[in-house]
Amino acid sequence: MNVKIEGRRKIKAKVNIPPDKSISHRSIMIGALAKGITEVENFLFADDCISTIECFKKLGVEIEIKSGRVIIIGKNYNLSAPDKRLYCGNSGTTARLLLGILSTQQFEAVLDGDSSLRKRPMKRVTEPLTTMGSSFEFLENDGFLPVRVKGKSPLTPIYYTLPVSSAQVKSALIFAALKAENKSVIKESPMSRNHTELMLKSAGANIKTSFENEVYKVEVFPGNLESLKIRVPSDISSAAFFIVLALICEDSEVIVENCILNPTRTGIIDILKQMGADITIEDVQIQNGEPVGRIIAKSSNLTGVSVDKKDIPRIIDEIPILAVAAAFADGKTIIDNASELRVKESDRIKTTIEMLKSFGVECYELENGLLIVGSKNKLKPGIVNSYSDHRIAMAGAVMACATEGESTILNAECASISFPGFYETLIGHSKKV
Ligand code: S3P
Repeated sequence: MNVKIEGRRKIKAKVNIPPDKSISHRSIMIGALAKGITEVENFLFADDCISTIECFKKLGVEIEIKSGRVIIIGKNYNLSAPDKRLYCGNSGTTARLLLGILSTQQFEAVLDGDSSLRKRPMKRVTEPLTTMGSSFEFLENDGFLPVRVKGKSPLTPIYYTLPVSSAQVKSALIFAALKAENKSVIKESPMSRNHTELMLKSAGANIKTSFENEVYKVEVFPGNLESLKIRVPSDISSAAFFIVLALICEDSEVIVENCILNPTRTGIIDILKQMGADITIEDVQIQNGEPVGRIIAKSSNLTGVSVDKKDIPRIIDEIPILAVAAAFADGKTIIDNASELRVKESDRIKTTIEMLKSFGVECYELENGLLIVGSKNKLKPGIVNSYSDHRIAMAGAVMACATEGESTILNAECASISFPGFYETLIGHSKKV
């Protein structure tokens, strides 16, 4: 599906942002591994999280949808051998966290994914898990899906420092460490999103988190999990598209309610504020151990920024839309030390640069990042190849809204990976100026 967008537009709206993807995945996983019945309100019914539900159903977990809530009958870490491949679709979180979870099970299972997921590196998870005693066989290409996994019980504890910060790797190791013989210690710097640690603590897991000379340390003691009642807040990674839209369009304002404001996720707000963005946070409350609140963003004059290395994990999913904000700023923006972008749903250094160039933005590919020169007076309508990457399609659509003329997003349907109804929300809430 191709989507045509007529710019320039403006927006003044309270926007309903979908539930958080990271928390939705984890709610199913922790619910499946706990004892008892977990109830999830406001679950994200988007392609990636549906992949997680389908995989756990194949592992013998009863999961029902009742009046919009997801009910999971926990198996206390006793999953059943699947009779088919576990298909993770486009979802790196499903595949990598499952590799950790399946390492605790004594049966064999095969994990597979779509053509994008089959290109994403898996050794970052399988290598440390192998030292814990589980085994992996890559069935087609070394280090990539499809992979056969066979776990062990109990696993050998692990003492491991992640070479690159990653919530997916960290979470896979924590899920495995809960079924190790003894305490494990996992370290990373800078700290990546910590939803797994927070949710596991609420489920009664014996996990201690601390900092040692700016290195984040997770100590995991083996044990069981109790069921949870979870309400999923709105996803700041999805809200970011509408926040930037309000900032770069004239006479615009966007309000997002009940949005996740965990500091490991709010890098986008901090960096946009460094660029001069008019963003206000209100009514912050703690919900399931996570800060949530209201975000108000208004049209702003932005200035380019040099993003600090330590902020990269806090904005890793927002870089395509941050690059759009940079295209509308005065001066240069440098986003470096972000080699992880090369192994996301697409090579997001290349695909973001190509998206921006299609609108006439002056920008340069760096070895590990992007350099963007503010170009708001030179823009033309673009034809965006999304490369079937949801965040490139949505960033391109926001760019199109703020650019005079008709732009096209190719293979635009991939937005449903994380944001079902994205284009309806975007066009429905904005109007042509
Ligand atoms: C995620 C972690 C991040 C992020 C992904 C979701 C998660 O990946 O890019 O979209 O839910 O754990 P890495 O931790 O591998 O960077």
